[in-house]
Amino acid sequence: MMKKLFLLTLLISVVAITEMHAQTTNFDASWQFFNAEAEGAEKPDFDTSKWRKLDLPHDWAIEGPFDEKYNARCGGLPFHGTGWYRKNFKMDASAKGKVVRVEFEGAMYNAHVWVNGEFVGNRPYGYIGFEFDISKHLKYDGSNNVIAVRLQPEDLSSRWYPGAGIYRSVWLKVDERVHVGHWGTYITTPTVTEKLAVVQNETTVTNKTILPVDVTVNHDYFSPDGKKVASAKEDIKVAANASGTSNVWCNIENPQRWDTDTPNLYKVVTTINQNGKVVDTYETKIGLRSIAFTKDGFFLNNKKVRFNGVCLHHDNGSLGAAIYRRADERKLQIMKDMGVNAIRTSHNMPSRTLLELCDELGLMVLDEAFDVWKMEKVPNGYNVFFDEWAERDIKDMIRRDRNHPSVIMWSTGNEIIEQKDKKNGWKVAKRLSDYCKEIDPTRPTTMGMNNFPNPYTFNFAQQVDIAGINYKPTKYEWVREEFPELPMYGSETSSCTSSRGVYHLPIEKYKTHESLHVTSYDLIGPPWAYPPDVEFHFQEQNPYNMGEFIWTGFDYLGEPTPYGGKDNSTNGYWNGDWPSHSSYFGAVDLCGFPKDRFYLYQSHWTTKPMIHLLPHWNWKGMEGQNIPVYCYTNCDSAELFVNGKSMGKKVKGKDLTELKVNFLRYEPKTFQSKYRLSWEVPYQAGNIKVVGYKNGKVVQEEQIFTAGKPAKVTLSVDRETIDADGRDLAYVTVRIEDKNGNLCPNADNQVFFSVKGAGNLEAVDNGNQISLESFQANHRKAFSGMCLAILKSSNKSGLITLNAKSKGLGSAKIVVETK
Ligand code: GAL
Repeated sequence: MMKKLFLLTLLISVVAITEMHAQTTNFDASWQFFNAEAEGAEKPDFDTSKWRKLDLPHDWAIEGPFDEKYNARCGGLPFHGTGWYRKNFKMDASAKGKVVRVEFEGAMYNAHVWVNGEFVGNRPYGYIGFEFDISKHLKYDGSNNVIAVRLQPEDLSSRWYPGAGIYRSVWLKVDERVHVGHWGTYITTPTVTEKLAVVQNETTVTNKTILPVDVTVNHDYFSPDGKKVASAKEDIKVAANASGTSNVWCNIENPQRWDTDTPNLYKVVTTINQNGKVVDTYETKIGLRSIAFTKDGFFLNNKKVRFNGVCLHHDNGSLGAAIYRRADERKLQIMKDMGVNAIRTSHNMPSRTLLELCDELGLMVLDEAFDVWKMEKVPNGYNVFFDEWAERDIKDMIRRDRNHPSVIMWSTGNEIIEQKDKKNGWKVAKRLSDYCKEIDPTRPTTMGMNNFPNPYTFNFAQQVDIAGINYKPTKYEWVREEFPELPMYGSETSSCTSSRGVYHLPIEKYKTHESLHVTSYDLIGPPWAYPPDVEFHFQEQNPYNMGEFIWTGFDYLGEPTPYGGKDNSTNGYWNGDWPSHSSYFGAVDLCGFPKDRFYLYQSHWTTKPMIHLLPHWNWKGMEGQNIPVYCYTNCDSAELFVNGKSMGKKVKGKDLTELKVNFLRYEPKTFQSKYRLSWEVPYQAGNIKVVGYKNGKVVQEEQIFTAGKPAKVTLSVDRETIDADGRDLAYVTVRIEDKNGNLCPNADNQVFFSVKGAGNLEAVDNGNQISLESFQANHRKAFSGMCLAILKSSNKSGLITLNAKSKGLGSAKIVVETK
């Protein structure tokens, strides 16, 4: 039985991961955790009987509680302090004499690791993966081994919610003494055309024996449909206790290219043969595609593509920073629905899971290393570790990520303070860019720069291949004129803020609102921000610009701008507008529910006919007063009806909507947007309907009714069947509706949940940036009529039944099957 189980885990791990040895097993199960300093806890006989038992990945900070004593800038959650993790495990006698390594995909923050009481190493930066060779510290006689990990995230070390804990997976690798090195394959595609892909494979072989060895490195290439399409091999000699490289090329004819619409992936199986025996098998997934960056744009497989990009932080809202593959998958699918084709992993290296998903879903990735170098933004930030660790961290990021076809650029930093350092800034910029090129010359380097014109006049921007420009659409032209050869794109754009379903009338361009919410008419933001429409305009005016990455796709924990902080450079606590504690920047809220802005982007970035209407139509007490109604559509024209009466047809591109704007380095106080249609109509209860026309034909319609009193709770789930793997998730949308099934747009009823069967309630949320309710409670208030329950499968297949009830509204039930 034991053996069978082991085989099963092995299979699951091999299937899930894009790059690994056959002999790698997942090490996430059965850890113990203690949320405070525990002196001596690295010692094997330390008493841990009171410690909590849990499986990784785990984020202790998301458990809360929210408290004003924690920094709202970091989500108002207890992420700093000391946390200990320990795991007991036995090694098979067969592992003796082999190389045993433990790999952490990421541990937040400042990890120190011991095995059987002996210190094996540390790694400060929470976003990079790392491994330690623990062979010599282990016992192979069937007795117990103990691994202990101490983490110490610091207060004032991040500008957003970083999470805390071993929040990504851990792996145990048992290898022969001759094996493929860590992140040891480097597979590039120097030529990819419709007819031919030339594939280069540079593989590092590690020899941990005291004698030189002769090995054959063999690679087999399998097409997306599983056919072997090419092979290549090379004999190499590897010196004693050293590494050697094999470098071979091969051709793949008529390649099924990796593209954003057809994200085809090939599998490369590498074997190391020594004395006629296979000593290591290593799998790498790759994609065959060409990328080219020119001063006139970006080309994927020789086709000009613009970045319809989003910046994303790493947290998944109510689930915190801990990795759940499904949470990332859902997040990326929602982004794809919006029309997104590229992700900027602001402002740190992403998880391996995220990159695998981007490979699979066809999303391009701007892989970013740092938010800060040596000059601090917050006192205990990465600046503390920069001198000692930056080279290692950025090089490791590239070694780890360079086989992913989704990754197209390396970003060495975001809004780095060294931009202002005329004398030395450029030197650091150059050094980091050189590190990237040393490890991967096939992709360009970039940075997100917000100063102007310093980075350009201080020779700073010129140290990377491509200028990433944050929030300066009015300066694209200047950069183009001064540096005609420099390719550029908007690395961070818009920073518009809103709260889902909240509308403040009359429309005003306010800084903050007493409700601590932000209107969803999509025009409010901090001084450097501007509505999406403005960027659309400047992108169109400057077609050489490669596109944009909006701030942000999803709301995230922390950084509750425009509340809480004086401005973006506030160093300390951001609790001035408590309980506001999470971001308003997302086109989608923390639950994954689209805000209106989602549809504005969709109308600009997609072609399948869509139409969206705002605001809601519940304005009791405002009868007869004018309400601005906006329509976001990609149709040619749209006609609005109020209670069946036409309010007129508006033509996209011709009828403009005046937006109040007020942002840095832009003179006019208004902007005439051709990207949204609008009407002013006197309020009258009933319904508003919009009809969209394309080539004179009705292709889309949307209707909003004045909702009556809350009458019921309804549930819908994103997937009715999920995997019984103990980690898969089902997202249940909860709506408060009137008796006719209309969403009650202002409802905030409390909903209670109970779960039975093959899973549990993992988290709840409602996207309200000022709610202090626990994400882990069994109840949640609706916000703008909606909330979310996330179910997690157990390891047993069966049914999960979720019951939701609310006072006076009865109850509702939904069943999810797990297999
Ligand atoms: C940028 C910064 C982002 C975020 C954003 C908010 O300046 O790079 O991390 O803070 O502002 O608008």
